[in-house]
Amino acid sequence: MGDTEDRLDSEISTLLTEERSFPPSEEFQRLAFVRNGDIRERSWAEPEQFWANAAQGLHWFKPFDRVLEWDPPNAKWFLGGQLNASYNCLDRHIKAGQRNKAALIWEGEPGECRVLTYWDLYREVNLFANALKGLGVAKGDRVAIYMPMIPEAVIAMLACARIGAVHVVVFGGFSAEALRDRINDAQAKVLITADGGYRRGQILPLKHDADYAIKETPCIEHVVVVQRGNFPLRFKEGRDHWYHRLLEDADPYCPPEPCDAEDILFILHTSGTTGKPKGIVHTTGGYMVGTYTTTKYVFDLRHDDVYWCTADIGWITGHSYIVYGPLAAGATCVMYEGAPNWPDRDRFWQVVEKHGVSIFYTAPTAIRAFMKWGDEWPARRDLSTLRLLGSVGEPINPEAWMWYHEHIGGKRCPIVDTWWQTETGMIMITTLPGVDATTPGTAGLPVPGVRATIFNADRKEIKTGGGLLAVTHPWPAMLRGIWGDPERYKEQYWSKWDQETYFPSDGAKRSENGYFTLLGRVDDVLSVAGHRIGTMEVESALVDHSAVAEAAVVGIAHEIKGQAIVAFVTLKEGSEASSSVEANLKEHVVKKIGAIARPERIVFSADLPKTRSGKIMRRLLRAIGEGKILGDTTTLADPTTVEGLRRKYEEQEEA
Ligand code: PRX
Repeated sequence: MGDTEDRLDSEISTLLTEERSFPPSEEFQRLAFVRNGDIRERSWAEPEQFWANAAQGLHWFKPFDRVLEWDPPNAKWFLGGQLNASYNCLDRHIKAGQRNKAALIWEGEPGECRVLTYWDLYREVNLFANALKGLGVAKGDRVAIYMPMIPEAVIAMLACARIGAVHVVVFGGFSAEALRDRINDAQAKVLITADGGYRRGQILPLKHDADYAIKETPCIEHVVVVQRGNFPLRFKEGRDHWYHRLLEDADPYCPPEPCDAEDILFILHTSGTTGKPKGIVHTTGGYMVGTYTTTKYVFDLRHDDVYWCTADIGWITGHSYIVYGPLAAGATCVMYEGAPNWPDRDRFWQVVEKHGVSIFYTAPTAIRAFMKWGDEWPARRDLSTLRLLGSVGEPINPEAWMWYHEHIGGKRCPIVDTWWQTETGMIMITTLPGVDATTPGTAGLPVPGVRATIFNADRKEIKTGGGLLAVTHPWPAMLRGIWGDPERYKEQYWSKWDQETYFPSDGAKRSENGYFTLLGRVDDVLSVAGHRIGTMEVESALVDHSAVAEAAVVGIAHEIKGQAIVAFVTLKEGSEASSSVEANLKEHVVKKIGAIARPERIVFSADLPKTRSGKIMRRLLRAIGEGKILGDTTTLADPTTVEGLRRKYEEQEEA
């Protein structure tokens, strides 16, 4: 391949420039856990040394004798060491006098509240761990968890960890078929579910769906059912067991199983935007060290913080930053069962006010929804306890960032925009909140102990400018493989350049100060008149317009330009779609980033097709634009959105 082609294949034009910069306040800096960024340079020079020190923050039954064995693309961390994840999240804090500290402050969607201290959580986890043993679950066995956002979901995960069983959490919003496929892939022996859960005033009939799933999962021997409400269900004697009944008969103490650092802690499936879900494998030692350390560094946790991550435990964010990281760090965590707009659009802010939340971690898709609903909702509530905000899951457009900063953070809270993946297990790129100035829309630098850079297709480093994000050294919480598919593991993540460099499939650009800005998935990158343009930049230019709440752009085959940009736009409430708004938006993009990015067409829509975790599925929008069949839509949160959009698109085309 020639030089130019290589460039075209990998380098991404950078169009938007962002000059705003927000340093942390003096007070934040003074009290911060990390006050000096030098730690980063030192850690990048000697990552093993950094992680060996970080590992001392956890309790090891047997110390490790080797930090890293790297046989690309397979890594083993903390060899010879033994530990237990639930011991690190519970016993350790109880021994240190934290028995009565709140571990979980839970609020159900209908409004009830439960507070579990570290002791309460410890007691329940021990009982349930013994109950699982009673059902024949042994070390290494897989246990599926299909639960609403209730404390028992966390208890179930920690109970598995306590006995060395491998949990496979399946998001409670997934269908029976999705559950069935994941159970079969992992060959789980026990399924833990609930009679139901609440979401937007409706009941999620989990046990009912689970009954369908397990008709076709011969590996499941027992089903444990938590009673969340008094929801009707069928009970099969012998196979189905009430959680509370099992606890009544269980012994109160279950010794934590000493696990080798490389014993599997969990499998979590990720579907990406296409294809069969991959069971991402995470092991105990490295994952615990990675999540514990990043929780402390990035969220700056202090003893009296009230920390709320709004993710569902069915996603990696829930695993790493509701359960393992914060609990290993001894935090008080808020957990909320339901929707952000139930009964009203200020529910999240009501939760913040009621529980005095100080650290709040959410996703750009939620922030854009709040923007769309209007400023008055957060304004009704007292958000003065907040001191740090976080974002994860997608690039956050600068305009959404500014809204978050002003309307939620009261202009005083640093925002950590954290880039990472199910596969990375832990946060990889962000700012250290007590050290770094932040730039709207820009994630920041690789965290201590992580080496990352930007390459072109030839593995030539791009110092400033856009290209392909690459992780150049193993890190402790990295995936250890795809369950049952070592070939796909190599092919998917380690074959872009050499066997030693991890390719996350994201585009990124680096600014003069070294900060990384994420540009979107490389499969979505636009190619207009020979320029590769990240979706993020054009979308951000659109969201920058005062009428726009959310935008997704795709490239559609065009005879002359290669691709033409089509933008799907959701307007803020109170704004009406019209041809003059359309013309305005096109001009706005030209003004912000240049004529090259002028959208050929703008389609207005009240909703965009999203996965259940809130990511926009640009693949489907492209299919609509190119008149192709849609393919797999089973991971969509609302499959009707995309059909509606297609009709609208075709009507417009005819007109
Ligand atoms: O494209 C990146 C985007 O989400 C992908 C990972 O998705 P998932 O495995 O579901 O994990 C989400 C929660 C960690 C990434 O490859 N992504 C995640 N965080 C960011 C992001 N894109 C830009 N900025 C982020 N902060």
